[in-house]
Amino acid sequence: MCGIVGIVGKDAVAERLVDALRRLEYRGYDSAGVATIHEGRMARRRAEGKLFNLENRLHDEPLPGATGIAHTRWATHGVPNETNAHPHFVDGVAVVHNGIIENFSELREELKAEGADFASQTDTEVVAQLLAKYIREGIPARAAMLKMLNRVKGAYALLVMFREDPNTLMAARSGPPLAIGHGRGEMFLGSDAIALAPFTNEITYLVDGDFAVLTRDGAKIFDFSGNPVSRQRQVSQAAAYVVDKGNHRHFMEKEIYEQPEVISHALSHYVDFASNRIRVDATGIDFKAISGLAVSACGTAYLAGLVGKYWFERYARLPVEIDVASEFRYREMPLSPSQAALFISQSGETADTLASLRYCKENGLKIGAVVNVKESTIARESDAVFPILAGPEIGVASTKAFTCQLAVLASLAIGAGCARGIISADEEKAMLKHLAEMPRIMASVLNLIQPQMEALSRDLSKYKDVLYLGRGTSFPLAMEGALKLKEISYIHAEGYAAGELKHGPIALIDENMPVIVIAPHDRFFEKTVSNMQEVAARGGRIIFITDEAGAAASTLPTMATITLPNVDELIAPMIFALPIQLLAYHTAVFMGTDVDQPRNLAKSVTVE
Ligand code: F6R
Repeated sequence: MCGIVGIVGKDAVAERLVDALRRLEYRGYDSAGVATIHEGRMARRRAEGKLFNLENRLHDEPLPGATGIAHTRWATHGVPNETNAHPHFVDGVAVVHNGIIENFSELREELKAEGADFASQTDTEVVAQLLAKYIREGIPARAAMLKMLNRVKGAYALLVMFREDPNTLMAARSGPPLAIGHGRGEMFLGSDAIALAPFTNEITYLVDGDFAVLTRDGAKIFDFSGNPVSRQRQVSQAAAYVVDKGNHRHFMEKEIYEQPEVISHALSHYVDFASNRIRVDATGIDFKAISGLAVSACGTAYLAGLVGKYWFERYARLPVEIDVASEFRYREMPLSPSQAALFISQSGETADTLASLRYCKENGLKIGAVVNVKESTIARESDAVFPILAGPEIGVASTKAFTCQLAVLASLAIGAGCARGIISADEEKAMLKHLAEMPRIMASVLNLIQPQMEALSRDLSKYKDVLYLGRGTSFPLAMEGALKLKEISYIHAEGYAAGELKHGPIALIDENMPVIVIAPHDRFFEKTVSNMQEVAARGGRIIFITDEAGAAASTLPTMATITLPNVDELIAPMIFALPIQLLAYHTAVFMGTDVDQPRNLAKSVTVE
């Protein structure tokens, strides 16, 4: 979840390292640090908190040197202070690390017993200590790396710099991603291709168990026994993406407003709107041949999968097993090769989702991946890749990736329904017509509701707890609404199936806990309104998110009613996602939290 970067360059690298860190800050922002070698001396600057603190430090005390490594941290072991910030130095060895060294306490005790003096509380420092010990014993750097790699256990992407060899960087991958960038007379390493995009678009992805040695002239890659391996070089598209906020205050706001455009882009990959048919070649899985789908993902991506479950089961009569990846991977569920497995991940790097994928692969299932980052590990390890084409999502709270995941899952479910003979050609046409209308409706809804959401957020910000309710596909949406609100405003929120209210949560209802009810005028509407009655009868305050037909049909008093246009049930989840995103966004802005980089979170979760 940390971001790491390294350059063996021709001239001073510190500024470029920080530029790359800025593109990696989504991976963590508890502290940052940079180290270089210059005239036989290794030096570093580190700072607690956001990257600008490190930039200020470097402004006051610049770092010369043409070889360097840098790090932006999401703390696992040790509080986020300067002492625990990377790079870690021990006797001429500098290390940055993304991941967790699982046997660090055992190694730490062993090294301490031999007299090692630890400066930090981090797991990473054992790597630097081990390497320094081997170098003191006279082992050459490359052999010391291999020896260290065979001692440490866990998940890691590591970059190492040795004071005695200023023209070389060494790297290793076991879990979290790591990419080599090929320049002209200089070489780069980074957690992803976007970090390296200003320097090069020629990328080699390391795979698990790779150890790389970089000099200005190129990279040599080995396995952990020291045998050479060859990895393909490819041209990355990352440079094409502009990563700025445009006229928006936050990336999250920009990404919310980008949704009509990116959804339209995503849909045209899966739907041929000229003939009104799903593009079968884009669906990759033979849905007719499979007995069911096993779906796994985390957080918002899991909630998109849950909406997908409703669609696959209803429109394609395809049974779906779905679980959060951290449970799925350990559940030891019986799987059959007649099933296909689907993994949903914006980053394509989430550790638990990747582990679930590998579990399904071992069980002989065909693997599909709904991902945003096409070059990610999850995409690379899948048989069929379904890109969501949302473009880079920088705000930590997922917005456009969620609705693009939904658009892709809806297209796949329709494709599956057609392939399985459940959806007729006429029904397919009608459904695709609804999908085609979606970008236009989204754009008008964003315009329509913005002032009301901003005003309502002022009221919402006064509360400590909020309950979200929904039925059918609005149930996962209720959970997504609660997740969005809690992660960026820090208001406690829960999402419940409306029918579950009376089985427990109703005990919480009073005037101090607003209940946000998501209820389009669909086949569940009457039932959800009955649940609203139960809330109203107990003095609960209701924020009612509905459509024109729903607003006309309900006479219950509410704290606010947000009225969206009437839309088909198929596209309602994407349209109703907009008010819940905007409500969370404006509440957070009003409360003055760090919307794009909320506390304790990171965008890419590459540890368990
Ligand atoms: C919440 C959010 C997270 C991610 C989750 C999975 O707004 O963004 O819950 O959805 O960490 O990440 P990916 O999709 O990258 O696997």
